[in-house]
Amino acid sequence: MRTQVAIIGGGPAGLLLAQLLNRANIATALIERQSRHYVQKRIRAGVLEWGTVETLRKAGVGKRMDAEGLIHEGCYLAAQNRRFRVDFKKSSGNRVMIYGQTEVTKDLYEALEQASAEVIDEASAVELHDVVTEKPFVTYQKFGVEHRIDCDFIAGCDGFHGISRLMIPLEQRKEFERVYPFGWLGVLSETPPVSHELVYANHARGFALASMRNPNLSRYYIQVSLEDKAEDWSDDAFWDELRCRLPTEVSEALITGPPIEKSIAPLRSFVCETMRWGNLFLCGDAAHIVPPTGAKGLNLAVSDVHYLFEALKLRYAAHDDHLLDQYSATALARVWKAIRFSWWMTTLLHRFPQQTDFEQRIQESEIDYIATSQAAQCVMAENYVGSPY
Ligand code: APR
Ligand code: PHB
Repeated sequence: MRTQVAIIGGGPAGLLLAQLLNRANIATALIERQSRHYVQKRIRAGVLEWGTVETLRKAGVGKRMDAEGLIHEGCYLAAQNRRFRVDFKKSSGNRVMIYGQTEVTKDLYEALEQASAEVIDEASAVELHDVVTEKPFVTYQKFGVEHRIDCDFIAGCDGFHGISRLMIPLEQRKEFERVYPFGWLGVLSETPPVSHELVYANHARGFALASMRNPNLSRYYIQVSLEDKAEDWSDDAFWDELRCRLPTEVSEALITGPPIEKSIAPLRSFVCETMRWGNLFLCGDAAHIVPPTGAKGLNLAVSDVHYLFEALKLRYAAHDDHLLDQYSATALARVWKAIRFSWWMTTLLHRFPQQTDFEQRIQESEIDYIATSQAAQCVMAENYVGSPY
C-alpha cells in the first residue's frame, strides 16, 4: 500500500492529525497497536485550552464538544483552609473548556470512520524503515500477515512508550527528564462535582484536586506515595483524605459515591530534542510528557499536530518545506513553556518528601501572593489557558 503520511499511534495526536490531513485531501494511513475499544476506554484529563477547542472545530469534530462541553472562566487555588478564584477571563481574556479526552477520542474515531480514512488497529510488530531517505516505509503484522506501507512522511504519534522516538540515534537526541517523588490517586464517580470550577489545593498532607467531566461525573485526585497501590485505598479512606485536604467550605458540599474508576498515575516531566529526524516527525507524548497538574498533556499534543499539519499542507500545496524545517524548533518553544508551567504548578502545590516547615511556608506565601496580586494571577491565567500557536 502507498500513502502520503503514515501515522504511528491512534491516541489524540495521531487521530487528530489523520482527521486534519484527510480533510485537506492528503492521504494518510494510521497504524495503532491496540484495539479501538481499548483506546476509547482510557481515562485521561479533560481541560481543553481554547486553541485546542478551535483546532477540534477546524477538524470538524466540534459539534458534540460545543453542545456538551462546559466553559470555565476561572479556577480556584486553596491553601490553609481558604480558597480564592483566579479569573482567567479577566486576567487573560481567555477561558478553557471541560470535555474529557475520552470523548475527544470517540469523536475523532467516528469522524475518521465516516470519512473512510485508513485506520489499522491491532497492528503488531510495527517497524519504521529508511526514515532519513525520500522513501520511508512502515511494516506491521495483522492477523499474522506482514504488511508494508510506503509513504512520503511518518508522524510518530505513538506516545511515551512508542517506537518512533527510538529511531533517532541516541547521540542525535537529547532527553530532559524530571521524575516527581509522588503519584496521583484518581477517582471517577457518578456524583455532581463539589465545585462549579476546578479546585487545586495545597495541604500539609499533600495535594488534592477537585475536577469534573460533566454535571453528574466528578473527577478527584489526591497526591499519594509511589509505593501505594490503588487497591490499598478503600473508598472511605479516599473520601476522608480528600475531604481533609480541601478547604472546609468546599468539603462540606462533597457528595461521595462508589468510584467507577480508581488508579494511580506517576508524575514526570520529559522532553526529547529534536522532534524531527529525516522524514519522521514526533507529535504529543512521543516527544514530551508533563505532570497532569497544569492539564497540558492533550493540549500540547494538539498544538504539535497543528504545527505539523500546517507544515505538511504547505509542502503538498506549494512544494515549500520551510515550515517542515522549522517544525521541531517551533513546537519545542511552545512545549518548553508548558513544561515550565506544569513543573511550577506541581512544585507549588505538592508536599515533597523531606519538605521542611520553612518550605511549606514558602509555598503558602506564594499562594497568598497569587491571591492578592493581579499581576501574579495574570501570569498564572495566561499560562493555564495556553500560549498562542
Ligand atoms: N505501534 C502503533 N501504535 C503504538 C505503538 C506502536 N509501536 N506504541 C504505542 N502506540 C499507540 C498507543 O497504543 C496509543 O494509542 O500510540 C498511541 C499513543 O497515544 P497517547 O499515549 O494517548 O499519546 P498522544 O496521542 O500523544 O496523546 C497525548 O493524550 O494520552 C494522553 O497523557 C496523554 O494527554 C496526553 C495526550
Ligand atoms: C482532570 O479532570 O482529570 C484533570 C483536570 C485538571 C488537571 C488534571 C486533571 O490539572
